[in-house]
Amino acid sequence: MADRYVVIGNPVAHSKSPQIHARFAQQTGEAVEYERLQAPVDGFDAAVREFIAAGGRGANVTVPFKLDAFALAGERSARADAAGAVNTLKFDDGRIYGDNTDGVGLVRDIVGNAGVAVAGKRVLLLGAGGASRGVILPLLEQAPAQLVIANRTVARADELVERFAHPALSASAFGALDGTFDIVINATSASLSSELPPVPASVWSPHSFAYDMMYGAQPTVFLQDAASHGATVRDGLGMLVEQAAESFAVWRGVRPDTAPVLQWLRSQL
Ligand code: ATR
Repeated sequence: MADRYVVIGNPVAHSKSPQIHARFAQQTGEAVEYERLQAPVDGFDAAVREFIAAGGRGANVTVPFKLDAFALAGERSARADAAGAVNTLKFDDGRIYGDNTDGVGLVRDIVGNAGVAVAGKRVLLLGAGGASRGVILPLLEQAPAQLVIANRTVARADELVERFAHPALSASAFGALDGTFDIVINATSASLSSELPPVPASVWSPHSFAYDMMYGAQPTVFLQDAASHGATVRDGLGMLVEQAAESFAVWRGVRPDTAPVLQWLRSQL
């Protein structure tokens, strides 16, 4: 019998994770069954415990439950603690282990798939919410020359800088950004409402690489803007596949080949 996994969210009907993990399972020969589980907004813990009781082995966690998953996990990885959120749960002998694979997913997509090194670069991270916090540690581990967090509400960016307390890390208002950046990553939720974060045109050079954590059939307004300033652009579909691959490796100890899955997913958009 296959081991059971789910993606838990609300809503969760749109999640592509079941298709991604089905391909990983097929490719690696792992006996894995992966479904969607919609939990009531105030019923995350109960839904997880019910799934464990029914033999569940692990779960991905999506909006709005990543903080609930963090609180529920009895043991957590260092990267989950740094992110302050959990997107991957593993159930083992009554223990609940929490991990976060979003940040490593972003870095693998930028460095591995797009072939853009972060080491020694000037990197600009837009936004200071959960999505931004989750990628700070993995980005710093790549040893950028500078990692600047820009946010509308500068106090939130200041808080992250204090929390991570790293010499390469600083905060800025959008309007106070100085000079061009090699890599600009949009971790705001602005793309969800087709809004453009107020990035000054002065951040762009023809050598800039722009990344949006969101994705869609069409480039986001942020990527369109970046491209109009000559930047090379990439959306977050690869991050989605890479975070899934890392979760799969956490559960199964086997790392799937992401390239064909990303190519297939792109053709479905
Ligand atoms: P998430 O978990 O997706 O990061 P969040 O914690 O609500 O969600 O954070 C959303 C982020 O997007 C914040 O950094 C927010 O900026 P503020 O902290 O100033 O609110 C940012 N954001 C949302 N819409 C934006 C917009 N139109 N322009 C710029 N930043 C925006």
